[in-house]
Amino acid sequence: MTKILLETLRGNPGERVPFWFMRQAGRYLPEYREVRATTGSFMEFCYSPRKAAEVTLQPIRRYGMDGAILFADILVVPDALGQKVWFEAGHGPRLKAVNDEATYRALSTDTFHDRAGPVYETVSMLKSALPAEVTLLGFAGAPWTVATYMIEGSGSKDHAAARQLGYGNPDLFGRILDMLVDATSQYLIRQIDAGADAVQIFDSWSAALPEPAFDKWVIEPTKAIVEKVRAKHPETPIIGFPRLAGALLPKFVEATGVDAVSLDTGVPLSWAREQVQSKVCVQGNLDPHMVVAGGQPMVDEANRILDALKGGAHIFNLGHGFVPETPPEHVALLSDTIKQFRR
Ligand code: CP3
Repeated sequence: MTKILLETLRGNPGERVPFWFMRQAGRYLPEYREVRATTGSFMEFCYSPRKAAEVTLQPIRRYGMDGAILFADILVVPDALGQKVWFEAGHGPRLKAVNDEATYRALSTDTFHDRAGPVYETVSMLKSALPAEVTLLGFAGAPWTVATYMIEGSGSKDHAAARQLGYGNPDLFGRILDMLVDATSQYLIRQIDAGADAVQIFDSWSAALPEPAFDKWVIEPTKAIVEKVRAKHPETPIIGFPRLAGALLPKFVEATGVDAVSLDTGVPLSWAREQVQSKVCVQGNLDPHMVVAGGQPMVDEANRILDALKGGAHIFNLGHGFVPETPPEHVALLSDTIKQFRR
């Protein structure tokens, strides 16, 4: 059976547009909340292969997506480097900040794969459990986005601590990014070894950086990861997601060498067609809040996106992840709309 999502990533789109959704596993699904409630900490949940594999499969059973994304989190990488990571209800992620020589030196790649091992095990379990036509997607956070959490010690609005360290101590900041490039490349290679068909690199916070910083902190590390992963697995497509990169998106695509790029909700589609889809496969870009509202406006908007991008390689997705208040029945209507569309 053909994996139509994988074929589309390789630049061979067929009649039906493949789809998956960011955060397709998660709190909007009652069956996710049920499994989630059986484990205390979120990181421990990410390191429980049976449970992580189960929640990865839940949305596939319900909606028949063409892609299943490994259930884990971008903060597995700092955690496996030895940084303390935890989640606090109502606050999101918390980390013991890395922002000087001493906290940087406490990180180590020595036991990285031991710590991340359960994630590779989840991938192998999924490889044997998934229907043959479903593409298995691995993922990691991009070094810049992961560094914003590592340096700030939490999520933040403007990533002040990371920007200020990047400008004020480029040597230390550069070493943090280099360590992340190495660890993330190895992490993705192991996921592919274990059975991932393609991988996505999430750079959720690449918005509104000055161009020289975007070049050094977003493009260069991503390009280095693409080169390292491709040296080991030349056939595995790599999807980039420099969220809110705006006018720098075409440059990102050309300079990094990614096979596909995810478009955030704000990217105009006529522009994307000319500047991006002419070079690589695109993925996107329904506003996740449209799926909370649902109904005919959501169906019309999905069809507008499908129509606008039907001339080339397109994978239907959201512009960012589902929010917890998304009604599951709206996801069913959206999935049916996409399945019915023909290029
Ligand atoms: O279905 C999927 O998309 C696969 C699993 C996945 C999760 N996180 C599960 C998760 C993926 C791909 C991610 C990536 C991720 N994690 C990103 C990049 C994508 C993006 O959204 O921009 C980022 C920035 C993170 C960091 C992170 N993890 C945040 C900000 C949060 C939310 C904290 C909160 O309390 O709302 C998480 C936790 C998280 N990761 C949840 C899920 C389903 C929710 C927590 C829970 O279920 O208890």
